[in-house]
Amino acid sequence: MKIYSKQQLLDRLRQFRIVQGPLAGVSNHIFRSLIWRYSQPAWVYGEMTSCKTILSGSSQIKSRFLSVDPGEGPLCFQIASSDVNETALACDTINQLPVSIIDINAGCPVKKIRQRKQGSSLLAAPDLLSNLIKTMKNSTDRCVSVKIRVDGTSDDRYNDRVIKALQDASPDFVVIHGRNYRDGYDIPCNLPQIKHFVKELGLPVIGNGDANTPDSVRHFLNIGCEGVMISRASVGAPWLIQNIQKGLGITDNDFKPHTELCWEIFLEHINRLAMIQDERFALNNAYGLIKYYTKGWPQKEDLLQKVRQAKTLEQLESSGNF
Ligand SMILES: Cc1cc2nc3c(=O)[nH]c(=O)nc-3n(C[C@H](O)[C@H](O)[C@H](O)COP(=O)(O)O)c2cc1C
Repeated sequence: MKIYSKQQLLDRLRQFRIVQGPLAGVSNHIFRSLIWRYSQPAWVYGEMTSCKTILSGSSQIKSRFLSVDPGEGPLCFQIASSDVNETALACDTINQLPVSIIDINAGCPVKKIRQRKQGSSLLAAPDLLSNLIKTMKNSTDRCVSVKIRVDGTSDDRYNDRVIKALQDASPDFVVIHGRNYRDGYDIPCNLPQIKHFVKELGLPVIGNGDANTPDSVRHFLNIGCEGVMISRASVGAPWLIQNIQKGLGITDNDFKPHTELCWEIFLEHINRLAMIQDERFALNNAYGLIKYYTKGWPQKEDLLQKVRQAKTLEQLESSGNF
């Protein structure tokens, strides 16, 4: 698999505009390969992986997090870290993989991650954030990016300190989710604050938060973002990015999914998950993923119930008798 240079990635971002974002527990190589089959994003993220897992996880865990499908396009691998030594060592391992971008997570709101001084807690420690990004740049020849959140309407007021830290470290790309780490998804994204970052940073910015239609993508492009990240909306709809790109005039193609085909893609997704771990892992994923694959279906409730009652993959397959 090809490794893309910064210029090639920037060209792709300007051409395709949309990046598939990271979703822990979802963005493994099976999910990503389905995205690549039905859409052409600028690049796709893997799920956040702690440097400890990269350095000393079991071989099964490592294979789940570090596998790459041969059909994938440019891949961004996201790490969670607050330790420069571990970061450098983890980059050494990632350098062996066909990964074009290494991203550091500075937005995760999960308590366990924040307690380790990782994820969004790095936003309150701009010097450490800057040092981690510099360490990554010194430890890899791949592009380096960071995914952050704005301070929003909180009293945190870190935006300008983070801007200085990022200017000092100069990552190749900055992804900005327009919410504070305390905000739920019911709080609207703060586009004026993303615009402030775009204006002040002088680095390519990818806006993130609630994009799922051509218009919602345009809102980010209109404030100067080079690209837009879509995370949740593509789950169960790997064709969504292509359909949005059609609405933006980027491609002539779109994909009109029908029930039987969605079901087949769902089964393929689940059966391939069984191959990377086991039937239990695949079924647990099926119980969560089915609601996304059946968005808008009239027979949704009945099917959700049948899928969640399935105890084997065979039972799962026979629950979709159309
Ligand atoms: C289940 C779930 C898992 C997520 N995992 C990650 C992750 O591993 N790394 C990350 O930076 N963001 C993660 N996010 C945040 C999303 O990537 C994204 O920033 C957020 O959902 C807003 O974008 P969206 O409206 O397009 O989903 C996760 C979100 C959800 C709901």
